[in-house]
Amino acid sequence: MVLSFGGSERKWCWSYGAWLAGLLLITPCQRLSGNENPPFPGERGKQLDLACRDDIWSREPKTFLEKFVRVSRDQVVAFALYTHENGVLKITAQLYPLKPEEPREVRLAFWQDGDWREVARAPVIYPGWSAHFRLTAWDNTRRVRYRVCHGEKASFEGVIRPDPRDKDEIVVASLSCNSNADRGDRQEIVEKLIKQDPDLLFFAGDQSYDHQEHTAAWLLWGWQFREIIRDRPTITIPDDHDIGQGNLWGEGGIVADYPAGDSGGYYYPPEYINMVHRCQTSHLPDPVDPAPVAQSISVYFTRLRVGGIDFAIIADRQFKSGPKGKIPKMGPRPDHVTDPNFDPKSIDLPGLQLLGNRQMAFLQRWTQDWQGAVMKVMLSQTALCGAAHLHGSKDNRLIADLDCNGWPQSERNRVLRVLRQAAACHLCGDQHLAVVVQHGIEEFRDGPFGFTNPAIVNSYYGRWWSPADEKPGGRPIPGSPLPWTGDYFDGLGNRITMFTYANPELGTNAALRKAQRDPAVNRGDGYALVRFRKSDRSIRFECWPRFADLSQGDAAQYPGWPIKIHMLDNDGRKPTGHLPELQFQNVTDPVVQVIDESNSEILYTRRIIGKRFRPPVFSNGPFTIKVGRDRPDQIIAEHLTPTPAESALTVRISGQ
Ligand SMILES: [Fe+2]
Repeated sequence: MVLSFGGSERKWCWSYGAWLAGLLLITPCQRLSGNENPPFPGERGKQLDLACRDDIWSREPKTFLEKFVRVSRDQVVAFALYTHENGVLKITAQLYPLKPEEPREVRLAFWQDGDWREVARAPVIYPGWSAHFRLTAWDNTRRVRYRVCHGEKASFEGVIRPDPRDKDEIVVASLSCNSNADRGDRQEIVEKLIKQDPDLLFFAGDQSYDHQEHTAAWLLWGWQFREIIRDRPTITIPDDHDIGQGNLWGEGGIVADYPAGDSGGYYYPPEYINMVHRCQTSHLPDPVDPAPVAQSISVYFTRLRVGGIDFAIIADRQFKSGPKGKIPKMGPRPDHVTDPNFDPKSIDLPGLQLLGNRQMAFLQRWTQDWQGAVMKVMLSQTALCGAAHLHGSKDNRLIADLDCNGWPQSERNRVLRVLRQAAACHLCGDQHLAVVVQHGIEEFRDGPFGFTNPAIVNSYYGRWWSPADEKPGGRPIPGSPLPWTGDYFDGLGNRITMFTYANPELGTNAALRKAQRDPAVNRGDGYALVRFRKSDRSIRFECWPRFADLSQGDAAQYPGWPIKIHMLDNDGRKPTGHLPELQFQNVTDPVVQVIDESNSEILYTRRIIGKRFRPPVFSNGPFTIKVGRDRPDQIIAEHLTPTPAESALTVRISGQ
């Protein structure tokens, strides 16, 4: 096992501090603390993270968060988060603010041979109070009890699970939007999750709504969810509110004009943004393309495989173009379109970015690498369409909301085409309104499915799916208990097929807030659960209200759920013909790629089931077929055209 640690900032602090301690007989972080050396520069940095600054101990706490973060000293290790991928285990230990005289170091120990054995130490990084461990040569077949410790008394304990490769069904819980209108615990959700026992937790963003107090709000989030995150891999990615903005169009890291964010970029100093990224994403697998963006803001897009399900983790706001000044204003805000004469095509302008070139290049590589993967999923903050009509209250109808990833439309379609190549679905949050849609690209129902999870607490900004003409869409979903399913255009002109949605029954945020803990009221809150079954490549979308009673079984889910699809439903193109059947001789479940030679387009790259596969095609080609055990690295046929059913090709994969 090889150990290495992050935290160059602390090395600087320690060396500088050691010098000062010798000179002035005071502790290093006393000297570095307080207003003389604020952690965030400039006017915009003055009011950030005040509840967790290292000079708080000289003040009386006043606000809820200021009081919350002052825990007894045997409780200063708040929680830990981990993932392991490709032989690397990464753990973040999150601490409450430390006092000047307390050590700035965390110890990691594993339970081995009947005792705790220390395996690594890491410095506590300020601001943010986090410590990060990265262990290589990790054997992911092991189940290991871990403990992160501070000082003599404080510790947090959990279990590193083995990779569940032998489980047929991999379960993912998907959550987002943890409104700060409810400062209490989330026991009603945690208890259900412990019973449902997901293999992976995905928190899609808005873990904090305390824009200027990320560390304190993050500590509160960890306190709320620590009993479920302690013993399973957890993905957390920050969204707009986590980095202190109402919305975020990151535009490659430029400086935003104001916190609403619609000019593009980040409003608060990069030191604050990087602290949020460090606390929320350091435990994720290393970024696949780690170069920072403008202002040296870090990136975190990466990949995590859990039990054969391959997750692309995408930051869908970080490179996206801001609307202000790039497109005409067509409503009260640059991102809200209310003009009924609006032409969606008028804002789909060349050069506008969505995921950005670097993430698109990563996604394209990811679709072609099936090592350790049976099914693929993209995770990101928000939806690739505008699947809501009413925003904030039931009397506020928008034509379109440019905060969603239905805009820019051409880029949205480009992302969907890449996902379709891998028959990958998309899980996200942000909207507060749970929906399952099938995206349409050229036609209705020809693209991947997307599942937007509900808000954990839905009392901040409700949304509703409520078509203005109150009519069902084309080909409504058979058997749905809801009135508005089927094929619709969203306000941006994107094709979507609404499968189901969880509208709150109350019409204003104030009403939702008043009833936020009333189990009898449907607020549309809760969480999503997705079951990926490898043996038959099925996917089951579930949506559980916050106060659902699991003893009622599926009847406790929102109406319209559960929804079961096949992985290949994420590619709804209608085949116009087939290529000769591939009959593999020396490999089972190989990867097959088909390329249209007329335009070099990759039609798909997938791991098939078994030894026989008849590739569908959607034009006359001609086509190239590439195959491999994990990647399409061998051309086995070129210039093929669709053929009658009886033709076949015998395939041996070489070099294996
Ligand atoms: Fe949110």
